Amino acid sequence: MNAFMSWIEQRIPVMRVANMHAIQYPAPKNMNFWYIFGFLATIVLVNQILTGIWLTMSYEPSAERAFASVEYIMREVNYGWLIRYMHSTGASAFFIVVYLHMFRGMMYGSYQKPRELLWVFGMLIYLALMAEAFMGYVLPWGQMSYWGAQVIVSLFSAIPVIGPDLVEWIQGDYVISGATLNRFFALHVIALPLVIVILVFLHIIALHEVGSNNPDGVNVKHKKGSLAEEDKTVYKIHEYYTDKYDIIDDVVPFFPHIVLKDLVAFSVFLFGFCYIMFFMPEMGGYFLEHPNFEVANPYKTPAHIFPVWYFTPYYAILKAVPDKLFGVLTMFSAIAVLFALPWIDRGKVRSWRYRCGLHKVNLLVFTAVFVFLGYLGGTPQENWKIIASQIATIMYFGFFVLLWIYSGKEKTKPVPARITL
Ligand code: HEM
Repeated sequence: MNAFMSWIEQRIPVMRVANMHAIQYPAPKNMNFWYIFGFLATIVLVNQILTGIWLTMSYEPSAERAFASVEYIMREVNYGWLIRYMHSTGASAFFIVVYLHMFRGMMYGSYQKPRELLWVFGMLIYLALMAEAFMGYVLPWGQMSYWGAQVIVSLFSAIPVIGPDLVEWIQGDYVISGATLNRFFALHVIALPLVIVILVFLHIIALHEVGSNNPDGVNVKHKKGSLAEEDKTVYKIHEYYTDKYDIIDDVVPFFPHIVLKDLVAFSVFLFGFCYIMFFMPEMGGYFLEHPNFEVANPYKTPAHIFPVWYFTPYYAILKAVPDKLFGVLTMFSAIAVLFALPWIDRGKVRSWRYRCGLHKVNLLVFTAVFVFLGYLGGTPQENWKIIASQIATIMYFGFFVLLWIYSGKEKTKPVPARITL
């Protein structure tokens, strides 16, 4: 086996890459609970791809057959209901995990130098994920699929001059129709998953080039000569890291230390995931909306049209602005501004543990505002909610303005020279 492995290794660097990026990857010792979500996002991505392949075997992407084929999967295909619920629960789980993953990045300043590109790749993944989820939601061709697509695609008509033509081009027809469903299917099952997988690959490469951040936000260090030769063999730390970075003391090899932590997280996650999947797959209408159990009907507008929960904060921002074009621009700016976070935050200290009190308050208020916007965008409109979404939208952007102002001359707490445990 060894001879065989070394024959392989001389031709393609399987173990070298596995060691560099997984087995011996030097992970900071103090990685905590918040560091499980990248791994969980990877697991959910694999789940979505695998269950998606099996769903595609029985799903029919036509306006006539789509709804019926989903019913067929639920009732006739062996374990079809399980595969579908794994996929639909996975979609929401993806966003839960990704939102927590992003929040971690904001808490510990993981977007700051030298991890700006890592953050940008993350944001591109987030964008692609939103497009993927939106198109996936159209596929069952229920009432919400149809009317949700109607609302979102018609947003592009607000663009001056090219708007109406652009809408027709996206739809592939004068209205949302089987042709639209067909192209969304193509994008959902192959184009976007491919983009997401490539982006995740680049995300990990970018992370491993600069190394992981940690809850203290300090660079990991290694006292020269402190590591005995035999320790080096025990940890099998790869030359690449010992030469290029001075980091051995503050880090542990990814396997088994971090892998074991991730496995504990995975089993707890699996309990929650299975509980929802087996006992409440619709999650009270949040994961699968009730009007979507009725086939799409272009002549019957549902009383209330909401996107799925993970889009509702942006939907509230869209609705907060009375003018359609400005609403669309504000909504897209709400996402775009997140891309610019590494440059908006001028702070010298990464982790919120050592940043000023105002920063902690600012980040917590921003998080609460985001959740509140989600509530506003996901419940029927009332007069007070319009004012509330306008205030919340201002507060959303206020986070970035404030951050830019105070981070320039922030008084921070003393930052430890080494990571703390
Ligand atoms: C499919 C979605 C995603 C996957 C599979 C993924 C995967 C990962 C993995 C495996 C890690 C290393 C483990 C960890 O730190 O948790 C990581 C780190 C990171 N990710 Fe993601 N990620 C995704 C989306 C995002 C998004 C949307 C953002 C932000 C916009 C983001 C920002 C980051 C940052 C800043 C780090 C470094 C954290 C640190 O070292 O402190 N990721 N990601």
